[in-house]
Amino acid sequence: PFRQRLLVVANRLPVSAIRRGEDSWSLEISAGGLVSALLGVKEFEARWIGWAGVNVPDEIGQKALTKALAEKRCIPVFLDEEIVHQYYNGYCNNILWPLFHYLGLPQEDRLATTRSFQSQFAAYKKANQMFADVVNAHYEEGDVVWCHDYHLMYLPECLKKCNTKMKVGWFLHTPFPSSEIHRTLPSRSELLRSVLAADLVGFHTYDYARHFVSACTRILGLEGTPEGVEDQGRLTRVAAFPIGIDSARFIRALELPQVQEHIKELKERFAGRKVMLGVDRLDMIKGIPQKLLAFEKFLEENPCWRGKVVLLQIAVPTRTDVPECMLLPFSYQKLTSQVHEIVGRINGRFGTLTAVPIHHLVSTVFLVWTDRSLDFHALCALYAVTDVALVTSLRDGMNLVSYEFVSCQDAKKGVLILSEFAGAAQSLGAGAILVNPWNIIEVAASIGQALNMPAEEREKRHCHNFHHVIMHTAQEWAETFVSELNDTVVEAQLRS
Ligand code: UDP
Ligand code: G6P
Repeated sequence: PFRQRLLVVANRLPVSAIRRGEDSWSLEISAGGLVSALLGVKEFEARWIGWAGVNVPDEIGQKALTKALAEKRCIPVFLDEEIVHQYYNGYCNNILWPLFHYLGLPQEDRLATTRSFQSQFAAYKKANQMFADVVNAHYEEGDVVWCHDYHLMYLPECLKKCNTKMKVGWFLHTPFPSSEIHRTLPSRSELLRSVLAADLVGFHTYDYARHFVSACTRILGLEGTPEGVEDQGRLTRVAAFPIGIDSARFIRALELPQVQEHIKELKERFAGRKVMLGVDRLDMIKGIPQKLLAFEKFLEENPCWRGKVVLLQIAVPTRTDVPECMLLPFSYQKLTSQVHEIVGRINGRFGTLTAVPIHHLVSTVFLVWTDRSLDFHALCALYAVTDVALVTSLRDGMNLVSYEFVSCQDAKKGVLILSEFAGAAQSLGAGAILVNPWNIIEVAASIGQALNMPAEEREKRHCHNFHHVIMHTAQEWAETFVSELNDTVVEAQLRS
């Protein structure tokens, strides 16, 4: 059967490379929601274009890595250290990421150093052009080119500039903020215009799509229609495409003997205690300190639960080279020490010789403060034995951890406590307990509610969410996006 060729372009490839020798490489699956979702997409003849997460200055290394990646259908974009510093650590993760998550506007220190802002934006455009060059080198007529995320907002423009016929879609995996926030960005118009060069622009939720359209109408003065944004008769289609996961993969994994074995071990290990779970990249948007403080408050107010509940917080270090910003209250570096400090304090207050309330030790199966991602089977087992999952993102595009938890809970029917600021609140809100993560008292009360919830109510809530998670998969998400993109292009041809 005909399988449409799809070029998936994302900053991060689904595998990250580790150098083992002059011409030898090993590949590891990368962490993060974008990669998880795209790995669930199978029905296309897909090729991936992106950065392998390492600097490869020499030709021998580049050749060997290109070859190793080709086996995974991946095509590398080589970014040197300076570009990574200015584009990835700088513009993407110190400016766009916090801004899109409503954490810190481009404040004084950034504006005071307008030159660094400008050089970072210049590097951003340059990097996007490097991605475009690789796309152009591999593009064949009829291919669909699907660009992903805030790293590549300039890419649609770069691609269309050389080839107006190319089918270009762009999807944002983060929130798109209110136009009042986007307005503060010095490069606000240029970014919007370059995204609008795409044929189809997609977001996780209707709210994000609406924010984008109003940014275009208010900042660029263009016309917003129910279909999208119109500029001198040319329409850019804008719509919501809520992402999903490959739920079948999780459900299948639970049947495997090694996962069953893991489950048994975990149950023995935590016998007599309720298990609460958090799984997050160690990112300030995840609200990890807030989550820990809420758990502390809960233990403070409910002495009867001390020793009877344990919180397993898996935190995967991320973006450790993003520099600290003097005037911003948030930084990846501060966050790590802050979290360690809070965990230490809570364990000191409520721990006993035999048990601590929060697990964050290095090198046990269930705890991961190491550089390595949690093994997939161990993760499934953890999801399956959890009584209460705690997702307290301050903002989150969707949050796939909440989906993964639900998919592994058909036996246990545990409770999901979910931030109302995660995109997932729109889809799993009816089954989860929704909370405002900034309100620690409310989150503490929800922990009590979840731990004491009658089986009947748990079942009802779980069924609602489970149904959603198995019906709305990553596969279906990708198919819907690509077919909408194909249709959009046909309609545009008919109109012109
Ligand atoms: N994850 C991972 N390694 C880990 C822990 C988690 O790869 O050690 C995965 C997790 O299973 C999920 C993804 O990373 O699929 C996180 O996606 P989410 O949408 O929740 O948040 P993001 O990291 O994209 O902000
Ligand atoms: C989020 C972003 C992704 C990114 C992931 C991991 O999910 O939307 O684009 O890949 O975080 O972050 P990293 O900076 O390691 O790629």
